[in-house]
Amino acid sequence: MKQKLEAIRQEALNAINNADVSSELEALRVRYLGKKGELKAVLNQMGKLSAEERPAMGQLANEVKAAVNDALAAQAKRLEEAALNKRLENETLDVTIPGEPVELGHKHPISIVLDEVKDIFIGMGFTVAEGPEIELAEYNFTRLNTEEGHPGREWTDTFYITPGDKDPKNDAVLLRSQTSPMQVRVMEAQKPPIRIVAPGRVYRKDEADATHSPMFHQIEGMVVDKNVTMADLKGTLNEVIKSLYGEESVTRFRPHHFPFTEPSCEVDVQCFACKGKGCSVCKGEGWIEVLGAGMIHPKVLKGCNIDTDVYSGWAFGMGVERLAMMRFGINNLKLCFENDVRFLEQF
Ligand code: PHE
Repeated sequence: MKQKLEAIRQEALNAINNADVSSELEALRVRYLGKKGELKAVLNQMGKLSAEERPAMGQLANEVKAAVNDALAAQAKRLEEAALNKRLENETLDVTIPGEPVELGHKHPISIVLDEVKDIFIGMGFTVAEGPEIELAEYNFTRLNTEEGHPGREWTDTFYITPGDKDPKNDAVLLRSQTSPMQVRVMEAQKPPIRIVAPGRVYRKDEADATHSPMFHQIEGMVVDKNVTMADLKGTLNEVIKSLYGEESVTRFRPHHFPFTEPSCEVDVQCFACKGKGCSVCKGEGWIEVLGAGMIHPKVLKGCNIDTDVYSGWAFGMGVERLAMMRFGINNLKLCFENDVRFLEQF
């Protein structure tokens, strides 16, 4: 029995000192000291010993038990220390490693063009006005002389939030389809002379393709003063287009119709890529349409309590995306809204 106990001590200490995870230690504890463990199995044999032998053997058994316990504790402590050291090693901070450069963002191409146009107008004495994208039908249509029945008012063209009804108190609420409601909002808020530009987002139920998006940006411009004529409109817009596209750029004013201007026109810029000959950029036209404009309709002025015997005014609305696409040679509008940095980094 003595040999058996010594053998258990040897074997147990050996196994414990070689254990390298704590779960292994627990298994060894159960194997040697547990209720069904090897030591217990030997002790169960004590009854077979003579009364003289028993105390010595009991003492030896206790010694073995204590030795195994001590070894378990010591090894547990060693494993814990090793784990801690390993963690410290892995988590050390090397303060001498060079930092990762912080990537600075920059302006979106649409914002670049918007800011340029704003700057040009500010330089000519205009101020910048801003208004709601969620608008009443009254401002987006009715007070712009765009009565019920006009195709722009159809739900197939415009995003309605609430449809409204006959009661003027329950006017339809919509996403503005143009920045022109800002004409009315500004004339309501200030007296002439007025010189403002109003940039912002507008929404239309257009199918998205290379040149259309259900959300895009416009810049509205408006002047109301004494003796304002179409010649002022033409001179101002020519100046703006030259600032944007260079001294040699050529414009064309074409008659058009808008309900809230009379007379109305659309303005084209001669294609900068082919100089008017017709190419893929201008789709063979030789010209690229950039804005709609005209003399503000007397009905619109009167609706804002402006005396049309004294004052007249002009307004224009230009598409910012189109300007940006021409400016940077962007061939698909979608690129502007996908937020792919590989695209955005190019500007
Ligand atoms: N609001 C018109 C459009 O979106 C453009 C425009 C603005 C025309 C001002 C005339 C005057 O097409």
